[in-house]
Amino acid sequence: MRFPLAVLPTPLVRADRLTAALATGPLLVKRDDLTGFGAAGNKARALEHLIGQARRVGAEALVACGGPGSNFVAAVAMAAKVAGLDCEIVLWGDPAGAPNVALARAAGARIVCTGSTDRAEPEIRATRRAAELTAAGTRAVAVPRGGSTPVGALGFAAAATELAAQLAGVRPAAIVLPVGSGGSCAGLLAGLAGTDLDVPVVGVSVSRPPGAARAAVLEIAAECAVLRGGPPPRPDQLELVDAVGAGFGITSAREDELARLALHTEGLLLDATYGAKTFAVAVELLQHGPAGPVLWWHTGGVVPAVAHLTKEAVP
Ligand SMILES: Cc1ncc(COP(=O)(O)O)c(C=O)c1O
Repeated sequence: MRFPLAVLPTPLVRADRLTAALATGPLLVKRDDLTGFGAAGNKARALEHLIGQARRVGAEALVACGGPGSNFVAAVAMAAKVAGLDCEIVLWGDPAGAPNVALARAAGARIVCTGSTDRAEPEIRATRRAAELTAAGTRAVAVPRGGSTPVGALGFAAAATELAAQLAGVRPAAIVLPVGSGGSCAGLLAGLAGTDLDVPVVGVSVSRPPGAARAAVLEIAAECAVLRGGPPPRPDQLELVDAVGAGFGITSAREDELARLALHTEGLLLDATYGAKTFAVAVELLQHGPAGPVLWWHTGGVVPAVAHLTKEAVP
């Protein structure tokens, strides 16, 4: 059963000042930066189902994992707290000064650092820790990176139906969204298969080569579709774009320029890891892609966006 967290539907808006400045066709923005639960953005959708599942199995604690920049760690800590669950988070990297980690702590989560930059280790340790807690009498559930499981993806599958209703027959040339751990894009594909919205999905891979991201997305999407009892996702609907560029969370001058334009024309906050890179791909499609409106999914990342957009403005 879904545990309600988000304020849905999120708005679908036309960014007309932005496209006037770019002299392009229309851009539609799906405002999942406004999901209304903390600064969880797109992850509020996944967490409704992950928390629902944890409660269904009688869990008393969650053990999540991620990196110091992860928006999910703050989101899962807050979601666990409001659902009355304990939360531990296993982190790679250095959490010093990381606002999302501070937010997770403020929400009552216990943070455990691996002390290494190995991004795979926290997930293994989280699984082990959940088993230890359960054996010791506190039933605990491990949550993988980004909450990207077939159950978590159910949130974005429902978002596809939400979007189809908002579009009311308008067919975008493409839907552009970021791909990190892959659950959001996977859910979207699973959900779209159950609608008549036959639109290419452009997944912007920010942390790994597109081939690996594609395999992860399609695997979660297929399992999510089975859980929904709906039609299988269509692999031909998905195109993966490589946006790792200079590195995870490192933007190009062009991406920064466009993020600033989005701020100046529409008041949108774009972070370096997801927003700025994905938005640049959406603009590229507007300028050089097929005719028709492009739909860019703003997935949130508002906490790091403020740091990114203000880094030069702060004296
Ligand atoms: C702001 C934001 N956008 C996009 C994503 C990517 O979503 P996914 O991990 O489901 O691919 C994340 C992941 O945490 C995120 O925090």
